[in-house]
Amino acid sequence: MADLPDPPQSAATRVVGARPVRPDGAAKADGSAAYVDDLAIEGLWHGATLRSERPRARFAVDTSALAGSGVVCLTAADVPGRNRIALIADDWPVLADGETNHVGEALALVAAPSRAAAFAALGELRVTYEDLPAEVDLDAALAGSARELAACAVDHGDVEAGLSAAAHVVEATYETAHQEHAYIEPQGMIALPGPDSAVEVVGSLQCPYYVHHALVSLLGCEPDAVRVRQAVTGGGFGGKEDYPDLIAAHAVLLAARAGRPVKLVYDRREDMLATTRRHPSRVRHRTGVDAEGKLVAVDIDVLLDGGAYTTLSPVVLSRAVLHAAGPYACPNVRIRGRVLATHTATNGAFRGFGAPQTQFAAERQMDRVARVLGLDPLAIRERNAYRPGDVTPTGQVLDESASALQCLAEAERRTGFRARWQALEAERSRALDDGRPRAGIGLSLCWHGVGFTGNGERRMESPVAVRLERGGRLAVLAASTDIGQGTETVLAQIAAEAAGVPFEAVEVAPPDTALVPDSGPTVASRTVMVVGGILERAAGELARRVREGAPGLPFAAAGDAWLAEHGPLEVVERYADDGTEFDEETYRGVAYAVHGWGADVVEASVDPDTLIARTERATLVCDVGKVIHPLLCAGQVEGGSLQAFGWGHLEAARVTGGRLEQGSFSTYTIPTTLDAPAMETVLLEHPGGSGPRGAKGVGEIPMDGGAPALAAAIENAVGIAATRIPATPEVLFEAREAGDDDG
Ligand code: MOS
Repeated sequence: MADLPDPPQSAATRVVGARPVRPDGAAKADGSAAYVDDLAIEGLWHGATLRSERPRARFAVDTSALAGSGVVCLTAADVPGRNRIALIADDWPVLADGETNHVGEALALVAAPSRAAAFAALGELRVTYEDLPAEVDLDAALAGSARELAACAVDHGDVEAGLSAAAHVVEATYETAHQEHAYIEPQGMIALPGPDSAVEVVGSLQCPYYVHHALVSLLGCEPDAVRVRQAVTGGGFGGKEDYPDLIAAHAVLLAARAGRPVKLVYDRREDMLATTRRHPSRVRHRTGVDAEGKLVAVDIDVLLDGGAYTTLSPVVLSRAVLHAAGPYACPNVRIRGRVLATHTATNGAFRGFGAPQTQFAAERQMDRVARVLGLDPLAIRERNAYRPGDVTPTGQVLDESASALQCLAEAERRTGFRARWQALEAERSRALDDGRPRAGIGLSLCWHGVGFTGNGERRMESPVAVRLERGGRLAVLAASTDIGQGTETVLAQIAAEAAGVPFEAVEVAPPDTALVPDSGPTVASRTVMVVGGILERAAGELARRVREGAPGLPFAAAGDAWLAEHGPLEVVERYADDGTEFDEETYRGVAYAVHGWGADVVEASVDPDTLIARTERATLVCDVGKVIHPLLCAGQVEGGSLQAFGWGHLEAARVTGGRLEQGSFSTYTIPTTLDAPAMETVLLEHPGGSGPRGAKGVGEIPMDGGAPALAAAIENAVGIAATRIPATPEVLFEAREAGDDDG
């Protein structure tokens, strides 16, 4: 059960902090919500994708069998203009052109009147391959001639001097594996050709304006000629941040050629095979501490496996590097980060965006250092955790909302972590060989920068609009999407609170590029703090004008009076530059306006014979600044933590020869309710940043702490300090064989 703050008492906070029923909930629960595959569209054809069977090869597609069949078939030669998806770098082809770089890559497209006819047509296509040498993992990439997709570095103080002066230097390397997003609904998009070569797409997506940008660039058309709408979307987790650009491009090209609407919906197998996953990582730490366990120098190398194309790797790496030293003060820090290309499906955005990978390493390294010093895991964290006024490796001075110590204290108060950890350490050394499950407890401390990294938010200057409707109603116009997390509900709460109107008086417009301004993508835990912060100002300003126009009247009457007298009223506000700066060359300055903070305590049991670990209890302390909707907020913490536990010990993605072997959830094992621990969520409120009432965001931080706390609990239980996750029995046996073991 979540431990939630008391319901608000004062009139000033009667909407924010309350728990209105989410407007989108009933339709999702009763099955009437229309996901992209449910949309009934007259004359719709169905698309299908011919996919590469080889990790790297020259290829040719023989389409002659389809000549005269009426089926539409497209290859790279049919892509107009530059055959590229417009994203950060210019290397992601719409359709592979003569050379493929990963298994599952799209080589050709077909569209036919039915899904069965489309897949039958795929079977008529003949592909010939001439294999080329492939680098299918980081080892091969390091040994070979792999392309570097991105690099960045942070320097603070003098690391070599710090390490020389240290009482102890501890060195270790940590690895994390691929993770599949496992959204409930696979990817899908419908393209509808309009008059005058205009086109509309509707689909399962996080970022309508990313898709819009990619399509305008592909078609070389005016922005108004492309309209992008979000269908009800069954989960995203970052997986629908970048990839929908490609599916939308495919659907649009097929629809243009077919002269009718075309739907492309992936099945689970092809979604898992072809779309993005979390970047595997390898992170090396060299940590110098003084005799009391204070950090004096950290030297960190971050290596990420980018997969075939750049897509979002540069920004994933940037966030990975900026979080790599963990939430700990240290005078001398050097961090080097690189992303190498491999011939595997492109790795992309996934909840946490690189930070879970590097914080897994940082947290396990803290435990390792603590053991060297004979400290417990809480003591070393208390000694080094950031305090307000501390300086991060980029030179950012942390403000009063830096709540690492409060998170630790709350975690200790709720769980009695220290005593329990010490008792279980002692018990392990006395353990009989009786085959009974061993209990263990682990702690993690994490931070997560909210919103875009560096100057991202300042550069975008996102607009958010609020429009006055009749009867004192407000319409919120923002591009933020609901991908399950409750965006519609929290944006309505924020607007209602700011305007002083009831929750029911606010309607959030659907994310449709024809209706809403580009308030930025639904990523980076930015919706509540960044979009919500702008919305708070816009709604407050609109209400002020209405009330000033007719003092003393109820809001609804005052609003109607305004509309009668002045006509339409729409207030647009933009992200307010807070005057801080970040140098993207030197990585100096304010990397994030504010951070969320969290401490997780995980209790696990491990079978000493099979080394199968179970998560039994989790206490999840999370400082979100201000809780907008206690139930939805706790839902984010629980869901993100469960996803982190899955990544930590269950989700063993088997990528062989560049191909993900699993194509369903019967073989790729995400946690079910049976695997979920009893979770206690504790939401702390240390307000900061530009968000409504100091809300700092909660989307990603729950993904950061779960895996290292679980790995620590396993170590406490059976004495095996796995440096690699998922900590499956195989990984734990290997770690024990390698002697990474004190039990
Ligand atoms: Mo994200 S991983 O910022 O959608």
